[in-house]
Amino acid sequence: MARGLLTTASTLLLSMRALADDWPFMTFQSAQINPPKMEVKKTGTTDPGYIFVGPRGNQPEGIAALIYDDDGNLVYQGPTEVTANFKVQKYANEDVITFWAGNMMDLGFGYGTVHILDNTYREIYTVTLPGDFVSPDGVARDSYIDLHESHVTTRNTLLVTAYNVTQFDLTAIGGKVDDYMLDAMFYEIDIATNEIVYSWSALEHIQAIPLEQSKQGLGEDYGTVEKPWDAYHINSVELMDEGYIISLRHYWSGYYVHRNGTVMWRLSGERDVGDFQIDDAGIFSWQHDIRVYNQTSEGMTIDLFNNANTPTETVAPTTGLSLAVDLVNRKVTTLRTMNDGEDVIHSVSQGSYQLMSEQTNHVFLGYGSITKVKEFDANNNAVLTAQFGEENAVASYRAYKFQWRATPFWPPTVVAKRSSNSATLHMSWNGATEYDNWAIYTASSPDSMEHTFITSVKRTGFETAGDVRNLRTPYLQVVARKGNVPLGSTVVPVA
Ligand SMILES: *[C@@H]1O[C@H](CO)[C@@H](O)[C@H](O)[C@H]1NC(C)=O
Ligand SMILES: *[C@@H]1O[C@H](CO)[C@@H](O)[C@H](O)[C@H]1NC(C)=O
Ligand SMILES: *[C@@H]1O[C@H](CO)[C@@H](O)[C@H](O)[C@H]1NC(C)=O
Repeated sequence: MARGLLTTASTLLLSMRALADDWPFMTFQSAQINPPKMEVKKTGTTDPGYIFVGPRGNQPEGIAALIYDDDGNLVYQGPTEVTANFKVQKYANEDVITFWAGNMMDLGFGYGTVHILDNTYREIYTVTLPGDFVSPDGVARDSYIDLHESHVTTRNTLLVTAYNVTQFDLTAIGGKVDDYMLDAMFYEIDIATNEIVYSWSALEHIQAIPLEQSKQGLGEDYGTVEKPWDAYHINSVELMDEGYIISLRHYWSGYYVHRNGTVMWRLSGERDVGDFQIDDAGIFSWQHDIRVYNQTSEGMTIDLFNNANTPTETVAPTTGLSLAVDLVNRKVTTLRTMNDGEDVIHSVSQGSYQLMSEQTNHVFLGYGSITKVKEFDANNNAVLTAQFGEENAVASYRAYKFQWRATPFWPPTVVAKRSSNSATLHMSWNGATEYDNWAIYTASSPDSMEHTFITSVKRTGFETAGDVRNLRTPYLQVVARKGNVPLGSTVVPVA
């Protein structure tokens, strides 16, 4: 075991060393929100979609679920809260938004709840994990879902991770008889009923995943309830045909867990470790986000985010990796490596790999502790880079790019400033993706039905400004439209 390689405290919670935060924030007249500016650079043809991030860390504003278009315009800011895995997924064949929200522990995991919203942003399901978990701060909670995974399966269940503090005899690896460590667990929960349909614990499979194989040194001040040893660091779970594949960052490995609980094989990022011969290009470490495609009895494609670095060790560029796993010959061959040679990134924690489309083969990488995202084309060339905060001062655990169509259940917001008989309007509709123009009508009262069309203004990003002259009524009705089709409206006083 790699002793002295102490990385736990900041594996996920970024180090708060970078104090200065000069990153610019957006301001609007019609919305009291200040999301970070999204600086976008396009260097090729991108796939359509919006950028989904959930920043947190050393910044005054914008700690929320955020959607931007790929020109950097804000589309949506959710409530102020620490989020993770903010993304679009399919539930019962419909596009829904899912995200984790809750409390981060200093040790690099969290306790929270998974929220599922429809395309009006109404919460349709709230998934929780109650139970007899032990947490480092001793606080009892209603839900212990960890932030690392919230994956909706084709059988309408949710796969989540959980961390539990457990006392364990660590004398065999140089610790104490009464040390505390973190168990790595995952759960499959039925979304409609919140019922647990499957659970698994790494500590219950200690023969298959021995503690001495952990790359995470015990460290000096670890082993208490407050600072338990994070031997495994589970950070992704996905369905396999007969079970699950999990990512254990602190073992540099993915494990296939049969649904009967047995660990069937280990795919290690190290040469001559685990059950496969891995080629040189496929070497990985401290990884995140293991995803599986095209599974057959003979093999599959496995994608992952290869951090290759820790807060204490910078080793190699962080890459996106796509691997062909040959179950017959027990070999792993590298299919794709994504690394922008113009902007090499060393991400010490967090991160994500998203295959955007099996038609275009574009891949979207979120760089975790480095506040950047990149889109790569089928030839592994970076076609988009976007940044939304200071590197290592702010992070988004994962980041995604998805197509998304939403018309919020709340109305647009409008502020009107009058001067003599004209008015200046600022109009926005947080979260709305479908409208392309604003129509403005006169109104004699807030609930008047007699409206006269004055003008229409083309949408410009999150907020649109417009002027009205020869104003004769004390109110204006402002309608967000797609072409001539009204989607939402607000009446605003201009008196
Ligand atoms: C968490 O660990 C404690 C021991 O520290 C144990 O009693 C409890 O059952 C565990 N919780 C779960 C959900 O496994
Ligand atoms: C689980 O299933 C696999 C595949 O059939 C088998 O090899 C393994 O022995 C099973 N384990 C248990 C505990 O039944
Ligand atoms: C899955 O297989 C199809 C058909 O061979 C192929 O077009 C596609 O690229 C594969 N997907 C991945 C992620 O390997």
